[in-house]
Amino acid sequence: MTIETELDELLPELDLIEDPDLRAGVREAWLSAIEETEIESLETLPWFPPVQRKLDLPNETLLSHVRDVTGCAVALAETLSGRRGAEINMDTLVAGALVHDVSKLYEFDGTDATPVGALLGHPYYGVHVVARAGLSVEIAHIVLAHTRRTNVEPATIEAAIVRRADEAAAAAIRLEAVSDLRDAV
Ligand SMILES: [Fe+2]
Repeated sequence: MTIETELDELLPELDLIEDPDLRAGVREAWLSAIEETEIESLETLPWFPPVQRKLDLPNETLLSHVRDVTGCAVALAETLSGRRGAEINMDTLVAGALVHDVSKLYEFDGTDATPVGALLGHPYYGVHVVARAGLSVEIAHIVLAHTRRTNVEPATIEAAIVRRADEAAAAAIRLEAVSDLRDAV
């Protein structure tokens, strides 16, 4: 199986993106990261090695988390656009959710932090990865503002939704290890 086919199988939410150029850009962001970091298995890539070590959650994977975040983001957006008529760009939202952690591939080499992980961090480096793939500033903003690891607050509804979706999805992982989330900070 080619890495392109594996990516499409592991991230079926790519099909939710209506604009073919945008879908191609999201795939390009992932494929360039895969190629550059020479990862061997996309399916078994870990979610967040230091937290997984601390909480003894060795089997959590990045791609499963990305799917959780995308699903949560779509559900939040559908509720807010349906009930309040909030204007949400679903293509931007889905694309942003799908690439929000793409640069985590550069953060760890096995369990060790790389210079990208130690000196930059994935939300900052992610801006470079998605911009290089031709994705918009709005999508780069989603990547930059999706975590408290930067001090950039979400400026758009799409970025606000992805940030909350990421927090909820990460909490669901942490709940595998603790019964009180305050014990898993
Ligand atoms: Fe995430």
